[in-house]
Amino acid sequence: MRSLLSDDFAVVGMARKAGKDACVRRCDLSSQQEIEEAYSDIIQSYGAPSFLVNCAGVYHAKGWDVITVDEFDSSYSVNIRAPFLLSRLFARSFPSDGRKGAIVNVASISGQIGSIDPAYASSKAGLIMLTRTLARSFAEDNLAIRVNAVAPGPIEGTAMGDRIPHERMKSYREKIPMKRFATTNEVANAVKFLLGDEASYITGAVLNVDGGLV
Ligand SMILES: NC(=O)c1ccc[n+]([C@@H]2O[C@H](COP(=O)([O-])OP(=O)(O)OC[C@H]3O[C@@H](n4cnc5c(N)ncnc54)[C@H](OP(=O)(O)O)[C@@H]3O)[C@@H](O)[C@H]2O)c1
Repeated sequence: MRSLLSDDFAVVGMARKAGKDACVRRCDLSSQQEIEEAYSDIIQSYGAPSFLVNCAGVYHAKGWDVITVDEFDSSYSVNIRAPFLLSRLFARSFPSDGRKGAIVNVASISGQIGSIDPAYASSKAGLIMLTRTLARSFAEDNLAIRVNAVAPGPIEGTAMGDRIPHERMKSYREKIPMKRFATTNEVANAVKFLLGDEASYITGAVLNVDGGLV
């Protein structure tokens, strides 16, 4: 995602482990304090961003009778609370210099059709409704920030895709009309489209990247 977006955007990331990359700010997205500190650092170093992509996600792949309360809470804090906090920081610091901004939230078709993991499915459904709500509120408040979501089906070659139980992946593949999973580039291309000017009249939308599954 980052490398594809870097063709058109100057990308600054937030990650639990920053590593050696100067353009990645260390941040545990389950902590409100760390989010606020990291965002403030980014503004000081680079200025207020024009675009925000909420991509981090937590999937425990645990069913209703085994998932713990801590796991449930960690899904909600990263999958929905962090995108809300970051969207609010983004909107509050958005410059009134005539520029146009956009937020893209990476949801999931699990937020539309469910998942074995109740925390993942319900938090992604919440992220879709957060997208619609902020899209309307920002437009009504005359903020030049569009808010959209992409909802991928299973993505091949990702750590999260590997956590989806094998039997479920098999059944997904049989049900997907295009008979294959998404690539990371196909998801990143949808994000890039929604960030760009070609999507200038699109806000509050959920773009499924799922080979026709939903
Ligand atoms: N893969 C799929 O099949 C699939 C399908 C539909 C939707 N999605 C969505 O696509 C997005 C990207 O997922 P992915 O496939 O790239 O999954 P992934 O490989 O598991 O990556 C998730 C990312 O979120 C980060 N993260 C988790 N908790 C964090 C925290 N507390 N603070 C900071 N970062 C945190 C992880 O950081 P660490 O590396 O430090 O853990 C990791 O970089 C997610 O929103 C996911 O729900 C994925």
